[in-house]
Amino acid sequence: MTRLSVNINKIATLRNARGGNNPDLVQVALDCERFGAQGITVHPRPDERHIRYQDVLDLKEVVTTEFNIEGNPDDRFIELVKRVKPHQVTLVPDAPDAITSNAGWDTVRYADLLRHLIAIFKEDNIRVSIFVDADERMVEGAKAVGTDRIELYTEPYAAHYAENQEVAIAPFVKAAQRANELGLGLNAGHDLSLENLRYFDEHIPGLLEVSIGHALICDALYYGLENTIQMYRRCLSSELGFS
Ligand code: PXP
Repeated sequence: MTRLSVNINKIATLRNARGGNNPDLVQVALDCERFGAQGITVHPRPDERHIRYQDVLDLKEVVTTEFNIEGNPDDRFIELVKRVKPHQVTLVPDAPDAITSNAGWDTVRYADLLRHLIAIFKEDNIRVSIFVDADERMVEGAKAVGTDRIELYTEPYAAHYAENQEVAIAPFVKAAQRANELGLGLNAGHDLSLENLRYFDEHIPGLLEVSIGHALICDALYYGLENTIQMYRRCLSSELGFS
């Protein structure tokens, strides 16, 4: 069964728009869990334009499902993650001014750096996932540097899904098969939505977790947060009996 981790960055963006504490990020995280989220993901960026470093510390106190911190591993990020000790850290090579993550790691070129970073998090028994494109070479490189999991960057899948689902998913199936053969855990995220999620989950072998933010929070405006989380869960499994 694939687990749903809800990325709550957008809630922080909304809160920050007015400078107060509405919506209350901690309360939303608790509500997401109550409504069926199996994990909470945050992506602090150096400019703290959405999730603030203090938010991560506050969330650590209350999140009872899987806590996943993703981001570019600069010194401040590393220090934060080691202090919080989440269940999982996802390393993303995004530039400080990137609107959102827009590529996976070149796991061959940055092998030494990744090995070094993974060792730092392993000291604290934090599971490490690294964000990669759906490219078998990058998956093999990820295995070589010793990560526990990879997160496949699904934006290209989402972008081409409407034109041709089979073509859009083909490189992801190959990358996933390679990850399975190599014994790497498999996560995925970026631009997954109610439209494209079920097909992805049904076709990707060994998918453990998806992290979803933008589309899910947008859908919640229309369907409500509880209903939306249940709708996403239904795309991932028939176990709730609604499929
Ligand atoms: N995974 C990573 C590494 C990301 O940077 C993001 C966006 O913060 C996501 C998943 C979630 O993407 P989306 O907001 O499009 O669902």
